[in-house]
Order: sequence, then structure tokens, then C-alpha cells
Amino acid sequence: MQIIDLRSDTVTRPSKAMKAAMMDAPLGDDVFNEDPTVQALQEMAADMFGMDAALFCPSGTMTNQIAVKVHTKPIDEIILHKDAHIYKYETGGWALHSGVSVKLLDGPLGQLSPEDVEANIQPDFDWLPRTRLVSVENTVNRGGGSIYTLENMKAIAEVCKSHGLRYHLDGARLFNAIAESDYGPKELGSTFDSISICMSKGLGAPIGSLLLGSNDFIKEARRVRKVFGGGMRQVGIIAAACKYALQNNTERVLEDHERARKLGAVLNDLPYIDEVLPTATNILIFKLNSTIKGHTFIEQIDRHGIKAIEFGPQWVRFVTHLDFTDEMLNKTINILQSIKSE
Ligand SMILES: Cc1ncc(COP(=O)(O)O)c(C=O)c1O
Repeated sequence: MQIIDLRSDTVTRPSKAMKAAMMDAPLGDDVFNEDPTVQALQEMAADMFGMDAALFCPSGTMTNQIAVKVHTKPIDEIILHKDAHIYKYETGGWALHSGVSVKLLDGPLGQLSPEDVEANIQPDFDWLPRTRLVSVENTVNRGGGSIYTLENMKAIAEVCKSHGLRYHLDGARLFNAIAESDYGPKELGSTFDSISICMSKGLGAPIGSLLLGSNDFIKEARRVRKVFGGGMRQVGIIAAACKYALQNNTERVLEDHERARKLGAVLNDLPYIDEVLPTATNILIFKLNSTIKGHTFIEQIDRHGIKAIEFGPQWVRFVTHLDFTDEMLNKTINILQSIKSE
């Protein structure tokens, strides 16, 4: 049976051309800063975003957690949306690695507003934690892949600047946002103190994330990466896949968005679905009504080879990606239309 894996855009396999790029990559020991492929990737990304420097890391969790550590001191506080990946899905690393607390805000589709951020900065009393960092996510995973406007990101940047706060972007799926927006990497580079971007999601590389920032920030980040156990040796073999992804796969994410929109339109018409979050990019989040239980739905589609994850009681997430074809889309639509509620 053909498996259609919609659990995440992390499930893609490297293409033949990507593997060929990996095989041909010049290598060296990156802990000694001697891997030419890693250096080329880091320079390419930093140039693209108009930032000083970049650091290649094994995962987006690591780039986010390094950013939190470098920007804060223990007993500081960071402002996050209550659905932020850094808060929900990084095993509470902010508490362990950085000794900070979190101030969780709400907002539609997982997004913060500058007004809310400003209203939640702690006053300067010694019995309160000191607000030090604001982090936003773009696109927003739990917001159905929603996209921040440049105006909103810049307005939050202004609040950060006027209160002496650092500003981080969790851009795990940043190229999905860029492909649909009127802003480019350079505008983002000039808005944030640090940016994390995953190569292993929409861009289709097997492993790897990049952290971008000033020279001083990246120098410190390199030290923190080492203490996290993320110093890697001949890792150009993987950086080559990421370089290939940056050069070839950033614009093709639009195809994933198109397929997600088609699927979203079908979901909206199904009798067992209550609500579908607006489909902005490649993430579809929808709520089943009381005629079918979440786990029953997941089991039923699994029997037809479709894999998806429950995203809360009665909520389900589908993510489209590089290995999800038009043929799979049509098959998925047929299966969804054949599902019987209880
Ligand atoms: C928004 C967001 N940030 C960060 C990450 C972490 O990436 P990784 O799985 O590479 O640690 C993810 C992973 O799904 C994510 O969705």
C-alpha cells in the first residue's frame, strides 16, 4: 500500500540531486572551523539575510535554545505566544539550559501583537523577573501555518528596541512565509537580532538548521553549541544538502501551499469537520465534529495509508511537503470523502 505521510514536512527524503551534492562536497573538521562546505553554507545564508554571520546546527530546537541562552541571563523572562514551539515542544529547554521564566501571551493564529508585548514587559522591581527577550514564530505552526506581516514584526521590533529587549525569530518555516509575502530575507535580517531557519522542513534537507545574527552573537552561539554537544566534524556532507536546498527548493514551497489550499477546500465541505483554520501555507489544522472521535479518524485514514497527527482533542494536523504529489493529493481527497462518521 502506498503511504501518504502528512504528519509533517520533516518526513521528506533527499532527492538524487541532493544526494549527489552531498557526495561531492569538500569536507574538513568543522570544530576547527575547517569545513569549506559548512563555511559556504553559513556565508550564503548570512549574505541572503544581510546579517553578519550564521552557525550551522543539527536542529531547530538547538538553534532556538542557543538563541535563548545567548540573549538572556538566568532569572530573566522571555515573552512567547502560548502556542510557540519554544514553549510547547522543546521539552522546557529554556528552563534547563537558560534558567529563564516565560511570559505566555495569546493572540489569533498564534501571533503576538506589539500592544500585548508592550503591556507585558515587567516593571523594574527586584521581586519581578527582568523581561529580556521576545520571540515570534513565522510561519506559525499551531496557527495553521499563518504568516506574520512585515508591519507587525517591525512594530514588535520597535517595542523591543524602545525597552532594550532582544528579538528572536523562530523561522523553522521562514521560506514558506517569504514565498507568500511581499518581504524578503533582507527585510527580516534587519528586523531581528537573531533568526533560526530549518533546512529539514519545507526545503527538504534531511538534517540541519541555521542560526543567524551579529558577529558577537554567533561567536557566543558557537560556544553554546559546543556545550550543548552540537559541535560537528566533517558535517559538510550534510551542509551540502542544506546548500542545495537553499539554492533549489525555496520557491517550490508554493506548490505545497497550492496542494494544501486544495485540500483545505475539500476539508471545509466534509460533513464530519467543524472548522478548518485558514490555509496560509503548507499546514492544515482542522477540528472534527462530534460525529467522529479524533483517534477513530486517525485510525481510519491510517488503514488507507494516510498518516496524520492529532493536534489536541478533536484537532488534526496535515502538512504538505516536497514528497506529497498531485497523485497523492487526489488519492487523499478520495479517501477523506469516503470516511464514515460514527
Ligand atoms: C516552529 C518550529 N520551530 C522549531 C522546530 C524545531 O525543529 P527541530 O525538529 O529541527 O528541532 C519546529 C519543528 O517542527 C517547529 O515547527
